[in-house]
Amino acid sequence: MSNILIGITGGIAAYKIPQLCRHFLLNGHNVKVIMTENATKFISPLTFESLTGNRVYTDDFEIYIEPESIKHISLSDWADIFIIAPASANTIGKFANGIADNLLTSSILAYDSAKPIVVAPAMNSKMYRNKIFQRNLEVLKENGFHIIEPISGILACKDEGVGKMVEPEDIYLYCKKFLKKSDILKGKRVLVTAGPTIEYIDPVRFISNRSSGKMGFAIAESAFENGADVTLISGPTLIKTFVDRKEVLSADEMYSEVINKISEIDILIMAAAVADYKVENYSEEKIKKNSENLTLKLVKNKDILKEASKFKKDNQIFVGFAAESHNVEENAINKMKEKKLDLIVANDISRKDIGFDSNDNEVTIYFSSGDKLKIDKMDKKKVADKIIKIISDLIK
Ligand SMILES: Cc1cc2nc3c(=O)[nH]c(=O)nc-3n(C[C@H](O)[C@H](O)[C@H](O)COP(=O)(O)O)c2cc1C
Repeated sequence: MSNILIGITGGIAAYKIPQLCRHFLLNGHNVKVIMTENATKFISPLTFESLTGNRVYTDDFEIYIEPESIKHISLSDWADIFIIAPASANTIGKFANGIADNLLTSSILAYDSAKPIVVAPAMNSKMYRNKIFQRNLEVLKENGFHIIEPISGILACKDEGVGKMVEPEDIYLYCKKFLKKSDILKGKRVLVTAGPTIEYIDPVRFISNRSSGKMGFAIAESAFENGADVTLISGPTLIKTFVDRKEVLSADEMYSEVINKISEIDILIMAAAVADYKVENYSEEKIKKNSENLTLKLVKNKDILKEASKFKKDNQIFVGFAAESHNVEENAINKMKEKKLDLIVANDISRKDIGFDSNDNEVTIYFSSGDKLKIDKMDKKKVADKIIKIISDLIK
């Protein structure tokens, strides 16, 4: 787990930082906090000491120089990621000009520039648009700082415009790309498909399915966290992720994306719930309800995995998913054989507590070798980690 150093400056958005701390803490990371003197006027260090279980560092020189270490050096050395949120215009100006007149700005100067610094500015929109501020922000970008641009909204000063800090959840999500767990898939190019596809009937109506995309996204994230170079192709879903994602709508679009990339990848994981059928005749105009019955003729979509398997090279690993409501084992094994998969992950969608839209899953993995492995009910992220570990063992 990683060491997260959070620098807080004097802005209203400081009230959101306990929530940011909690995202990291609940996911097992260590959090330490530095506050500027002005930040302590907005929120008490006590809040962060209670949450993190660590002393909060301010500009009190007694804390700054503890007997065992000089804090602006030791905190910077300790951190794997340095996040400044909210980052005031004042502190950004100091960073840009190398000013080190407090613990936070000194720590930034002492921080190893090979490690990530993430800055989430928050301020009034006029301050944000100010040319001098924009120049300072540009200096930070040129020097490798990762900037999470503020969003538009109603600001604390009642003005409306750009300057609102993004939500803590989004800062956490952004930082996840720096929280690598292992290098077991380093150098491997992994293509993951996720979510449903949708098949339009007319400009406003479509056929789709209940897939939330949670399992596929968890797999893409786990592959990324374990060192892989990941491409995620997903149907429409509301899930946010730090992995680069290409969104598609129909099975045909997903097919094109997968086939275009198939020769460049080492591992294909097809977790998407691709529609088996589409309407034969898409109506360019909205269908009017002027008859008692409406008959839609459906035709089969291309089977993406089956088509992809025609291009499969010996050194590639192909993984499929089987969401089955009956004869789970038999259907899964048949699908694995038909599509030349190395393994298939099967789950029973007749159960309400797992699978579609649920946060948990319980799966059985069938291997082309004939082995099988049951993974007990657990959070989809944990299931994803296990699947990625199994794939990395196979590719060895
Ligand atoms: C109520 C109040 C709200 C403020 N909000 C912000 C803000 O959101 N962003 C900002 O850059 N400055 C804001 N300021 C101004 C900063 O607090 C001021 O520039 C201060 O010098 C920043 O100090 P620091 O960067 O050392 O924390 C605010 C000031 C007050 C009094």
